[in-house]
Amino acid sequence: MHPPGARPASFSTPAGAPFNSGPRYPIMRPMGFDLGGRRALVTGASAGIGAEIARELAARGADLTLAARRADRLEALAASLRSEHGVSAEVIPADLAAPGGAAALIDRCGETPAVDVLVNNAGIGMHGDGVGHPWEDERGMIQLNVLSVAELTKHFAAQMRARGTGRILQVASTASFLPCPGYAAYGATKAFVLHHAEALDEELRDCDVRVLALCPGSTNTAFFEISGNVRGRAQVATSLDPVDVARAGVDAIERSRRVTVPGLANKLTTAGLRVIPRRLQATLARRVLE
Ligand SMILES: NC(=O)c1ccc[n+]([C@@H]2O[C@H](COP(=O)([O-])OP(=O)(O)OC[C@H]3O[C@@H](n4cnc5c(N)ncnc54)[C@H](OP(=O)(O)O)[C@@H]3O)[C@@H](O)[C@H]2O)c1
Repeated sequence: MHPPGARPASFSTPAGAPFNSGPRYPIMRPMGFDLGGRRALVTGASAGIGAEIARELAARGADLTLAARRADRLEALAASLRSEHGVSAEVIPADLAAPGGAAALIDRCGETPAVDVLVNNAGIGMHGDGVGHPWEDERGMIQLNVLSVAELTKHFAAQMRARGTGRILQVASTASFLPCPGYAAYGATKAFVLHHAEALDEELRDCDVRVLALCPGSTNTAFFEISGNVRGRAQVATSLDPVDVARAGVDAIERSRRVTVPGLANKLTTAGLRVIPRRLQATLARRVLE
C-alpha cells in the first residue's frame, strides 16, 4: 500500500539505527486509526481523565491495560469494561513517580500482546510557592510527569516503529503553552510533554506511528485538590467534564490529530497567546493561577 522509499543517510541514533527507518509515506501518513481489537495501555486510569479515556477506548473496541497506584479502583474499572463492552482488560499496579516505576511497568507489559496505543495520562500538579515546595515532592512530580512519560514513550514508540504502526497520546495541558506562576514546575513539565510529542511526531513522519498531544484546560477531577489549589472563578466557569476531554482525546487518536485543545474557551486562550509577549503571558497567568 505504501511502498518503502529511499531513507535520508545523514541522521542516525548513537546505536547507528536510522531514527526514521521503516516504510516511508512520501505525501501523507494514513490519517485514520481503527481502535477495534487494538491493545491500549492507559496510565493514571484509576480516576479522572484517564478512567474516562479507558472507558472511551473500550467503547470503541480496544482491549485495555490499566496502570496506576490504586489497584482496587483499576480492578473495578476493568471489570466494568469487560462486562459493558466485551473487551479484555488487565490491571498493572504501578507507581510512576518512583525511580524505576516506568521500567517495572514496561517489564510487566511484556512483548505480547503488543501495545498498539499508549496513553501517557498519569500526572499531578503542585500549586503554590515554587521555591518552597519540598524537593522530594517536586522530584516525584517531575519523575511522573516527565521522566516516566519519556521512558514509556521511547520504549513503546520503538516497538510501534518496528511493527510499522501505533499511536501515543500524551496528556499535556493548556499550561504547556505559557509560563505558569503558581504552577511553575508543573507548567514546565507540561511544556516538555507538548514539545516532546510534537517533535517526535515530526521525526516519525515517515511511518504510521503518531505521537499526539491532548491539552486540556481546567477539568472537573481531583487534580486541583491534589495540587493544593482552589480554582478561581474563571477556571470554574470554563471547566470541562472529563468525559468530554476523554472523547476529544480518543477522537484525536482515531483521526491522528497532532495537538488537541478541548473546549472553545481553551482554544481561544491558546490561540490568543500567540500574539501576547511572553513576559505579559506570565503576568496574566499569575492573576489567574495564583
Ligand atoms: N484536571 C485538570 O484540570 C487538568 C488540566 C490539564 C491537564 N491535566 C492532566 O490530566 C492528567 C490526568 O489528571 P486528572 O485531572 O484526571 O487528575 P486525577 O483525577 O487526579 O487523576 C490522576 C491520575 O494519575 C494517577 N497517578 C497519580 N500519581 C501517580 C503515580 N505516582 N503513579 C501512577 N499513577 C499516578 C492517579 O492514580 P493513582 O492515584 O491511583 O496512582 C490518577 O489515576 C494529568 O496528567 C494532568 O496533568 C489535568
